Amino acid sequence: MLRFSILAPLLASALLLAQVTGQTTFKNPVIYEDFPDNDITVGPDNAFYFSASNFHYSPGAPILKSFDLVNWQLIGHSIPRLDFGGGYDLPASGERAYRGGTWASSLRYRKSNKTWYWIGCTNFWNTWVYTAPSVTGPWTRAANIGPGGTCYYDNGLLFDDDDTPYVVYTKDATVNVAQLAADGLSQVKSVNVVNASMVGADSIEGNRLYKINGTYYILNDKPGSTTYIWKSKSPWGPYTSKILVDSIKSPLNGGGSPHQGSLVQTPKGDWYYMSFTWAFPSGRLPVLAPIKWGSDGFPVLVNGANGGWGDSYPMPLNVHAMPNWTTTYTFQGTSLPPTFEWNHNPDTTKYTVNNSLTLSTASITTDIYSARNTLTHRVHGEYPVGTVQIDFTNMADGDRVALAAFRDRSSYIGIHRDGSTYTLTTKFNMTLDEWGGSTLDNGTVVATTKLPTSSSKKIWLRTNMDVRPDGSNNATFSYSTDGKSFVLLGGTYKLYTGWAFFLGYRYGILNWATKALGGSVKVLSFTVA
Ligand SMILES: *[C@@H]1O[C@H](CO)[C@@H](O)[C@H](O)[C@H]1NC(C)=O
Ligand SMILES: *[C@@H]1O[C@H](CO)[C@@H](O)[C@H](O)[C@H]1NC(C)=O
Ligand SMILES: *[C@@H]1O[C@H](CO)[C@@H](O)[C@H](O)[C@H]1NC(C)=O
Ligand SMILES: *[C@@H]1O[C@H](CO)[C@@H](O)[C@H](O)[C@H]1NC(C)=O
Ligand SMILES: *[C@@H]1O[C@H](CO)[C@@H](O)[C@H](O)[C@H]1NC(C)=O
Ligand SMILES: *[C@@H]1O[C@H](CO)[C@@H](O)[C@H](O)[C@H]1NC(C)=O
Ligand SMILES: *[C@@H]1O[C@H](CO)[C@@H](O)[C@H](O)[C@H]1NC(C)=O
Ligand SMILES: *[C@@H]1O[C@H](CO)[C@@H](O)[C@H](O)[C@H]1NC(C)=O
Repeated sequence: MLRFSILAPLLASALLLAQVTGQTTFKNPVIYEDFPDNDITVGPDNAFYFSASNFHYSPGAPILKSFDLVNWQLIGHSIPRLDFGGGYDLPASGERAYRGGTWASSLRYRKSNKTWYWIGCTNFWNTWVYTAPSVTGPWTRAANIGPGGTCYYDNGLLFDDDDTPYVVYTKDATVNVAQLAADGLSQVKSVNVVNASMVGADSIEGNRLYKINGTYYILNDKPGSTTYIWKSKSPWGPYTSKILVDSIKSPLNGGGSPHQGSLVQTPKGDWYYMSFTWAFPSGRLPVLAPIKWGSDGFPVLVNGANGGWGDSYPMPLNVHAMPNWTTTYTFQGTSLPPTFEWNHNPDTTKYTVNNSLTLSTASITTDIYSARNTLTHRVHGEYPVGTVQIDFTNMADGDRVALAAFRDRSSYIGIHRDGSTYTLTTKFNMTLDEWGGSTLDNGTVVATTKLPTSSSKKIWLRTNMDVRPDGSNNATFSYSTDGKSFVLLGGTYKLYTGWAFFLGYRYGILNWATKALGGSVKVLSFTVA
């Protein structure tokens, strides 16, 4: 009794504390990082899995996991290597695959045989199926559907209640439903079920197919503004449609109207729409909103206090925390965490992880867009700060090592070694044709300072950015020899806000040769703040 009487007030105050500090609402965007084209599905463990596009970055098709739809962790990828042919290895011939790779694809768990399926049309306009026994892999290529160019553009996969696989996709301005063979690896037939013209649109994209209470629903959108929802008693139609959102106010100042994504039901029976807001220079940021079902069988989005896509809503489920997106990596163990992705496929003989990351030069070039083994990491939040600590003892003559603000217009701070001279260099405006074509500009050196030859061969490089879509979009670059005091080098670089590259800024850790291969650097730590 005595024990209880002492504990009771303690317990009561602990409960009170939990109520006071317990998170009951969430904020949009749910992740302030570039994860476009989400397709959310529920796994065998009742967790939510979110597949995203990452185009020419390798590994491809990142997978995120959550237990509450709000807190997410990047746990792996569906495409271990972008083995679609073409320029995905950045060959010496100069071929490249910018804007190719994985986009607007679909991920599902198939209960009947405990198999995960990823399906997507990649450049060069072929549809691939990858499967895995577990969401964390191993993922392997299972099929190329219709060699010769069947492209399930912006597709959504459904395993029906009777286990029949269907894929909904766009072809020109038509929406089509294909029935796949029982193994999900080839097409049985395909039927045009809906046209963009039926809703007065020129084009229609971002397709998903659901079966809810015996009714088939197609979710898709007019690029830029409008989400449509279509329903039918048969996968083959006829479908009737309603608008789910149209030019809705973004939860983010300066962000675009959310209009593409996926629907998901929680174990409590509630439904949500996960979309994304276009927010360059940052990228496309996931935003979540509840939906309710009307008596006509169509869903209705629940508006927020802003009268549009809310910047805040009640938590869908109890909070289930995930590791912080901001962290310091020290490259423990022998593999890279899945939050890192390479620009195109890496040359795996040119890097090692072993309680540090050794990057050997893998290309001889003066064009960073042709250099292999640029390691990238998404920037996080409105004011990202990336800091890399590098041991450059083994740099070779002509080598360049840098930390970049990396996309189709890039800038960096780095070290250029020429002979026995090591020059800290800030370079702006490396420019790629944003439609994925040629390099338009190899950049301009805007500031340099020589490192004393006697100094230690360790350096910290940093970039600070403002990636808010309505922000200054300023980026600055600095260095430090002690990891404490940083010295700015060069002025302000304006981050590019164009959308055509489809992906936002990342940190790029680059190490390449201009004279001969053989040099290397050691990345000792990388802090994403
Ligand atoms: C799952 O089904 C597909 C299609 O039938 C088949 O290719 C695959 O081998 C199956 N996987 C397992 C683990 O049974
Ligand atoms: C879509 O348009 C084509 C071309 O006009 C037409 O042949 C087809 O019947 C239309 N599909 C539907 C589902 O109305
Ligand atoms: C599906 O049916 C159940 C049971 O009748 C009902 O409670 C639920 O609201 C329905 N869901 C939808 C999305 O229509
Ligand atoms: C994540 O880390 C940052 C920086 O250390 C901190 O400000 C933030 O509160 C952390 N977020 C969570 C959810 O713990
Ligand atoms: C990793 O480093 C340790 C200690 O330096 C060394 O003993 C080991 O052989 C290395 N492993 C690999 C795979 O290089
Ligand atoms: C950029 O550098 C590459 C590789 O040296 C070269 O082929 C290309 O012509 C350069 N582009 C421009 C626009 O200077
Ligand atoms: C950046 O490069 C582009 C393409 O060459 C050029 O049009 C632009 O003027 C350059 N900007 C600066 C600030 O040098
Ligand atoms: C952005 O950079 C410009 C040019 O250097 C500068 O004038 C402006 O004050 C900066 N804005 C912010 C918010 O730092």
